[in-house]
Amino acid sequence: MMENELKLTQKPAERAFLVGAEIKNQPGLLSIADSLEELRLLSETAGLEVVGETSQKLDKPNPATYIGSGKVEEVRALAEETLADVVIFDNELSPRNLRDLSKALGDSVRVIDRTALILDIFAQHAKTREGALQVELAQYEYRLPRLTHAWAHLERQGAGASGRTGSVGGVGLRGPGETQLEVDKREIRKRIAVLKKQIEKMSDHRNLYRNQRKHSQIPIVSIVGYTNAGKSTLLNLMSNSDIYTADKLFATLDPTTRRVNLPGNHLSLFTDTVGFIQKLPTQLIAAFHSTLEEITEADLLLHIIDISHPNALAQFESVRETLKEIGAENIPILNVFNKADLLEDAEEAKNLLAETDPNAYLISAKTGQGIDELKTGIMEQLFEKMVPIRVRLPFREGALIALFHEEGIVESVENESGGVVIQGAVPGRYLTRFQKFLV
Ligand code: GTP
Repeated sequence: MMENELKLTQKPAERAFLVGAEIKNQPGLLSIADSLEELRLLSETAGLEVVGETSQKLDKPNPATYIGSGKVEEVRALAEETLADVVIFDNELSPRNLRDLSKALGDSVRVIDRTALILDIFAQHAKTREGALQVELAQYEYRLPRLTHAWAHLERQGAGASGRTGSVGGVGLRGPGETQLEVDKREIRKRIAVLKKQIEKMSDHRNLYRNQRKHSQIPIVSIVGYTNAGKSTLLNLMSNSDIYTADKLFATLDPTTRRVNLPGNHLSLFTDTVGFIQKLPTQLIAAFHSTLEEITEADLLLHIIDISHPNALAQFESVRETLKEIGAENIPILNVFNKADLLEDAEEAKNLLAETDPNAYLISAKTGQGIDELKTGIMEQLFEKMVPIRVRLPFREGALIALFHEEGIVESVENESGGVVIQGAVPGRYLTRFQKFLV
């Protein structure tokens, strides 16, 4: 909740009690215990101290309090016993769940869910103005349906939604017959509209840069992966630069781009993007659309997987799902298993590789193991490998038609009014330029 999340970022030692639930016939990617463990890491990343946890198996969520009434009482008692300030649910709570749970658990604890927690972490980590605006938008979208009179009023006394960028509080003049809650909702909707416009403007600006980058003919490689997999560490190593890395979730929020030299004096641009996580809030995916677009326009994706993590496989699947969600499933991808130095059992790694992708690379971004092979693999993919494509090119794209003939292998050309359909293959590094015209 608005005021509550603010406190969350400001008081580092707040005490959190975690609640997980497993719903029958809705198996998550992670077991309930592993998902709670992840929630614990998220809580610690947000600066909270976790003082206890509990979970429940349910046939279906209780429409009022999500968990059963007996369990609610148990959580209330445990929260009291452990002196918890906040109770965090691992599943997304509906506005009604939030209201009824807050009532049932009493005034001494606040209730939030995993989504609100992730949004709060993002708000803490957004460094660029675009990142901050995107998070603020996601927070408002999440809060609008959950706005209740009690804390709409409280919020007016504090700062804005994320506590950093503007405020909707205190500005609403009540129209005829409007309740204060309606005024607040109206103000939030207005703010959402303004944020969307600002973000759109920035994304236009970014598109301009991206187009310039595409025309510079330097291929773009986008590093994706579950949070904490080692994306920033790898980019640092490959580009000899110094990007902030931390053993925390979501240390990187805003995309960073670096030049990387590949074997044979080939140059490429690598971008490191936001980490993925299971149950990534949909509001975030929507708000970060323009950032995630960076991924969909890459020539090549590097999917970094932390092979030392007990849930490596589930994390792998989760990232694949998110890539599909943002429409990036057709971009060539190299799977890269990282943190090989932490593996005690080489057999284990082999099994995991066989299960997912026998052609995957095994590296350590810490020790440098496997990095040369990876760079060669990337170079081959971008500069030597021909990727089959079929494109419809209007005649005004004469330069691209020429490029296909000069650098690619043309199998067939069909003339159409206004353009041509060409089938064949082009070097991987030109994919982005043809992407818009793929058929
Ligand atoms: P997000 O910003 O959360 O998306 O994380 P990230 O994927 O960018 O991970 P980051 O590079 O910040 O690394 C996370 C942690 O893993 C850091 O503590 C790194 O030092 C550590 N790490 C990264 N690569 C390796 C590796 O190959 N071996 C070991 N032992 N640790 C690694």
